[in-house]
Amino acid sequence: MRSLISILDLSVEEIDQLVNTGLDIIENPAKYAHKCEGKKLATLFFEPSTRTRLSFEAAMYELGGHVIGFSDAGSSSASKGESVSDTVRVVSNYADIIAMRHPKEGAPLVASMKSTVPIINAGDGGHNHPTQTLADLLTIRREKGTFGNITVGFCGDLKFGRTVHSLIDALTRYKGVKIVLISPDELKLPGYMKDALDKMDNITYVETTSLENAMPELDILYMTRVQKERFFNEADYIRLKDSYILTPDKLENAKSDMCILHPLPRVNEISVAVDDDPRACYFKQVFNGKIIRMALIMKLLGIE
Ligand code: CP
Repeated sequence: MRSLISILDLSVEEIDQLVNTGLDIIENPAKYAHKCEGKKLATLFFEPSTRTRLSFEAAMYELGGHVIGFSDAGSSSASKGESVSDTVRVVSNYADIIAMRHPKEGAPLVASMKSTVPIINAGDGGHNHPTQTLADLLTIRREKGTFGNITVGFCGDLKFGRTVHSLIDALTRYKGVKIVLISPDELKLPGYMKDALDKMDNITYVETTSLENAMPELDILYMTRVQKERFFNEADYIRLKDSYILTPDKLENAKSDMCILHPLPRVNEISVAVDDDPRACYFKQVFNGKIIRMALIMKLLGIE
């Protein structure tokens, strides 16, 4: 039985296989309409979500399966003090596969040790978000055709941004990747991640506070939200929340085929005026997220 807790749980070959299955689902959706008949997905969301939960649910329905679950810890017995371990031991009796989001880093890993069915990490605190990364990778493949020999700028909250952490982990698998880390000093990428990057010779990175200076060399710009829910101090959040706001004028020096990604939700960090720019790919990411979750559910259930 396989769970997906970190993107590094998947080999490069397995990521390629998932992406290729995703491309086939887009071309031949009818082929997949009954693949999960008789199977149930449980979505256990202890933290708010729109895209991840609903795309998992849409994915399972489009595969012909069923969905149970909760979208609010307050409506579950967690509100009475039940542990994550007990919750998954119980839900393993009701579902064939579980997607779990939790505000505590490591909660899905703990769940995977107690569950008798596969656990998918749908986001754990400021740690990892591997299925967002799969959505990002499918988008990059469709837009750029490759994961190697690209320059990727990550902009905003690189400290708590779990989507950033997981996508950087994934990119370390490929050759010729340059990463540009664009953030205020207070929201820099964690030291343990930079230490890991320092030991790799297939990937380089630089840090800067200037989006404008970084812009011309980027093939991909990955914008992120400064996440209010990760701050202990509201004054710090207010000071940092509008550090970077992408507007059409800031794109004047960008490559004509640069790809703008954002895991969403956005608040202020991308002006709606950018949405009509052909380089804006963040709503394509949303569609790709549902597709790649279909591929992942099938893989973890052992369905060809
Ligand atoms: N990208 C993402 O995780 O969005 P949600 O928080 O809405 O699930």
